Amino acid sequence: MRGAMLPLSALVLLATCHFAFSIKDGLVENGNFEVGPKPSELKGTEMIGRYALPKWEISGFVEYIKAGQKQGDMLLVVPEGAYAVRLGNEASIKQVLNVTKGMYYSITFSAARTCAQEEELNISISPEWGVLPMQTMYSSNGWDSYAWAFKALLDIVDLVVHNPGVEEDPACGPLIDSVAIKALYPPRPTNKNLMKNGGFEEGPYLLPNTSWGVLIPPNIEDKHSPLPGWMVESLKAVKYIDVEHFSVPQGRRAIELVAGKESAIAQVVRTIIGKTYTLTFAVGDASNSCEGSMIVEAFAGKDTLKVPYESKGKGGFKRAVLKFVAASSRTRIMFYSTFYTMRSDDFSSLCGPVVDDVKLLSLRGT
Ligand SMILES: *[C@@H]1O[C@H](CO)[C@@H](O)[C@H](O)[C@H]1NC(C)=O
Ligand SMILES: *[C@@H]1O[C@H](CO)[C@@H](O)[C@H](O)[C@H]1NC(C)=O
Ligand SMILES: *[C@@H]1O[C@H](CO)[C@@H](O)[C@H](O)[C@H]1NC(C)=O
Repeated sequence: MRGAMLPLSALVLLATCHFAFSIKDGLVENGNFEVGPKPSELKGTEMIGRYALPKWEISGFVEYIKAGQKQGDMLLVVPEGAYAVRLGNEASIKQVLNVTKGMYYSITFSAARTCAQEEELNISISPEWGVLPMQTMYSSNGWDSYAWAFKALLDIVDLVVHNPGVEEDPACGPLIDSVAIKALYPPRPTNKNLMKNGGFEEGPYLLPNTSWGVLIPPNIEDKHSPLPGWMVESLKAVKYIDVEHFSVPQGRRAIELVAGKESAIAQVVRTIIGKTYTLTFAVGDASNSCEGSMIVEAFAGKDTLKVPYESKGKGGFKRAVLKFVAASSRTRIMFYSTFYTMRSDDFSSLCGPVVDDVKLLSLRGT
């Protein structure tokens, strides 16, 4: 017995030491770029030298942008603090992160387009990468936050944010701010809910000082979901929202379906053929001036339910139930919004109904 105990405590000790070096949830070092280059390392706004930006390694044409700076007749806004960076053609910024091998993490960052209509960002953690499209704006000030998840294959990894675009004007290219990380703990189904992460409580880091949530890009671009358990099975992103800035039906987090039928979330669950199940969920609005007649369509395999919701844009929700008999040992649960909606206070911002508190239970005796 004693022999068996020793290695166990040694293991615990090892694990503790190990975690001491691992990164904490929140901004990465100088993740909001408030610590800037020395004046001698700046030529206008361009940073000169690989290590000009504290805690980062830069490559290519990277500018240091101050809030309120003008570009043509556009005033540059910075979401966090007073500074951001801009990535020119093929430019990138890199930081080495201490993570824990085998764990899942999500990166959150804010980005704004400048000149180009179709900008993209390539975010990578060696050896994985994903190209996130930035073509549709969801927030009114031009900035959106994005999440991208990865599984750590090593304890020390390189985080690279790279602009793969090539524009004629080198001053074009996306602005970046607020780079953060969060460890993800993939949830499991329980006997109280056959869905994983049905309340969306587990998800990417939400920047406390931003009020526009985080976009979860279409899953085709990444292998691991920043929203554990869920896939984004569509062309457009879904938005992850917090109770600090939005109306949320249950708990602290929910999903806003921001792009009609192009913005769907799905999860495949194990079911028993012939058994009856009830899928319950909440449909509401985020209290973000998203007004009008909305419909959320829920799918459980081939069964569907359309849930109408009249939004005054001031928050609120209702619950719905879809009862179905499983036709397969794996049932796909999916939600999307039938319509596109624009915010009544800002006609360039897409918005939509909120889905939350998704529960799946089998009925006894069936
Ligand atoms: C990363 O881990 C190494 C030890 O492996 C440690 O020396 C270093 O200070 C850590 N860096 C950070 C930013 O925590
Ligand atoms: C994205 O970045 C990674 C690493 O920085 C690189 O290997 C990959 O080729 C890039 N992909 C694109 C499409 O630029
Ligand atoms: C959020 O803003 C407040 C006030 O400006 C500031 O004190 C705080 O450090 C900011 N938080 C983060 C995470 O940047």
